[in-house]
Amino acid sequence: MQKRSRWRGLVVLRRLLIGAICSIAAVALLSVHVHVFLSSKVPDFSDSYKLPTQHEIGFQRLSTERKWVQELAPPHLSKAPLPSRKLDGARGISDLDKLWKPPQNRDFVPCVDPGANYTSPAESQGYLLVHTNGGLNQMRAGICDMVAVARIINATLVIPELDKRSFWQDSSNFSDVFDEDYFISALAYDVKVIKKLPKELATAPRAVKHFRSWSGIDYYQNEIASMWADYQVIRAAKSDSRLANNNLPPDIQKLRCRACYEALRFAPQIEAMGKLLVDRMRSYGPYIALHLRYEKDMLAFSGCTHDLSPAEAEELRMIRENTAYWKVKGIDSREQRAKGYCPLTPKEVGIFLMALGYPSSTPIYIAAGEIYGGDSHMADLQSRYPILMSKEKLASIDELEPFANHASQMAALDYIVSVESDLFIPSYSGNMARAVEGHRRFLGHRKTISPDRKALVHLFDKIERGSLKEGKNLSNKIIELHRKRQGSPRKRKGPISGTKGMDRFRSEEAFYVNPIPDCLCHKEPPDMNTSIIIR
Ligand SMILES: *[C@@H]1O[C@H](CO)[C@@H](O)[C@H](O)[C@H]1NC(C)=O
Ligand SMILES: *[C@@H]1O[C@H](CO)[C@@H](O)[C@H](O)[C@H]1NC(C)=O
Ligand SMILES: *[C@@H]1O[C@H](CO)[C@@H](O)[C@H](O)[C@H]1NC(C)=O
Ligand SMILES: *[C@@H]1O[C@H](CO)[C@@H](O)[C@H](O)[C@H]1NC(C)=O
Ligand SMILES: *[C@@H]1O[C@H](CO)[C@@H](O)[C@H](O)[C@H]1NC(C)=O
Repeated sequence: MQKRSRWRGLVVLRRLLIGAICSIAAVALLSVHVHVFLSSKVPDFSDSYKLPTQHEIGFQRLSTERKWVQELAPPHLSKAPLPSRKLDGARGISDLDKLWKPPQNRDFVPCVDPGANYTSPAESQGYLLVHTNGGLNQMRAGICDMVAVARIINATLVIPELDKRSFWQDSSNFSDVFDEDYFISALAYDVKVIKKLPKELATAPRAVKHFRSWSGIDYYQNEIASMWADYQVIRAAKSDSRLANNNLPPDIQKLRCRACYEALRFAPQIEAMGKLLVDRMRSYGPYIALHLRYEKDMLAFSGCTHDLSPAEAEELRMIRENTAYWKVKGIDSREQRAKGYCPLTPKEVGIFLMALGYPSSTPIYIAAGEIYGGDSHMADLQSRYPILMSKEKLASIDELEPFANHASQMAALDYIVSVESDLFIPSYSGNMARAVEGHRRFLGHRKTISPDRKALVHLFDKIERGSLKEGKNLSNKIIELHRKRQGSPRKRKGPISGTKGMDRFRSEEAFYVNPIPDCLCHKEPPDMNTSIIIR
């Protein structure tokens, strides 16, 4: 009797132990990162600006993570290459390879050096102060444009002030977000840049001016430069879209690219943290950066309430009502969505990625602020793609602390991880999506899939009505719809025909979305002296 109960006790104990071991293994499989980095084995990051060097990170991570890379990476990575049949065609490339294959670069290379007659900055006529406006990406583009404007009007550029009153309410100064000294030295041959307006000019008469949107060189050379006759200081009250996208001298266009893609780096502590996040993400294998613009401000602004509860829809409506600078108040969500104007919901993104063929083991980095409704709206995507990461999941609270209360700095981290990703997918074509897309084009046409939201929503609605099912047919349709939306080289789109005035400029593809033809050129064939060919 006694023996038997002891035996039964042993069985129970054994089952418990096996269960515990299995669950520990399962948890470890999914969260080894987070645990490793939250545990006390990590170097102490209490000195917040002292992130580990890349060398340390690499060393520390190698032993534990090589294994995970192999397990989680798509199988083709760990296999020896297939005996090659023909290397030139698409034949023989596995489906998985295709998923990560960047678009053909067609020999485009950066061509940002100025022409032969370019000179160092002319004698300065005065100082240009710039008040940037908008979120991180809008400010970035504005800063690069103002570098070009300063060059055109022979101004000394004072390091721009960042927007502290935008929706994001970030108190960061330029040097908190960008590498100020590098910016100044990298542009030394183009524009004189100084950190502060000289003291003796603090009270000098200054012109405060809203530069006209999308202006060409004539406007700046004539209207703006003529103000030097009366003022030593000109202050640009806004920085967004002040410079035309097209029809500017090549040297000015190239300067915009040098400013944005070379001179304007993030501050060292942001670059270091960004690299750390990229390394941690990469340890899971090739990854998708998903710019999931499913944040409160976006939904309130756009009036998109699909799949939200009535209470949530009402909350968003109230925010819109109370935000003075959002002019459009009454919005028909259904109509917006049907036109393709709404960001994809997290659930829709999940259906989309599955249809494109990305296996559920694909690591995904969510580049976003706080997702509206949090986990409640993420559940479906999370169940399809369990390796769903974010800066908050990849880094410890202590590591993120220096950046956490600064929306621009947090956005900069997302920017870095997105630019470096193997595939970038924006759920909405906002400023961040466009800036990252353009930067990735510049860096060699890294793959960016832009969802055709209008067509997709039409298909998703069919699924909801039950007249279409997820599966091969849907997948084929969605793959076909996106065959030509993968970020391959093409010329920047001009204005939509028939549009006039400001709408004409507004309808153009923005300069920083696609730097062809100005800053990427077709590599010249060796024995020919043909000039830039754009096909
Ligand atoms: C450069 O300057 C020379 C001499 O002034 C001129 O002939 C030539 O057209 C200029 N080249 C360009 C590309 O502007
Ligand atoms: C930005 O600069 C201003 C003026 O120098 C300073 O008062 C403020 O504290 C700075 N903000 C941050 C976040 O460092
Ligand atoms: C800027 O300086 C150059 C060289 O002195 C001059 O040719 C050009 O006209 C100036 N531009 C303006 C807008 O003053
Ligand atoms: C897929 O499409 C084909 C042709 O349009 C149709 O015959 C078939 O029933 C569809 N299959 C499913 C599962 O919907
Ligand atoms: C190409 O080279 C030839 C001979 O050297 C020259 O005459 C011609 O102008 C060049 N064409 C271009 C586009 O530079």
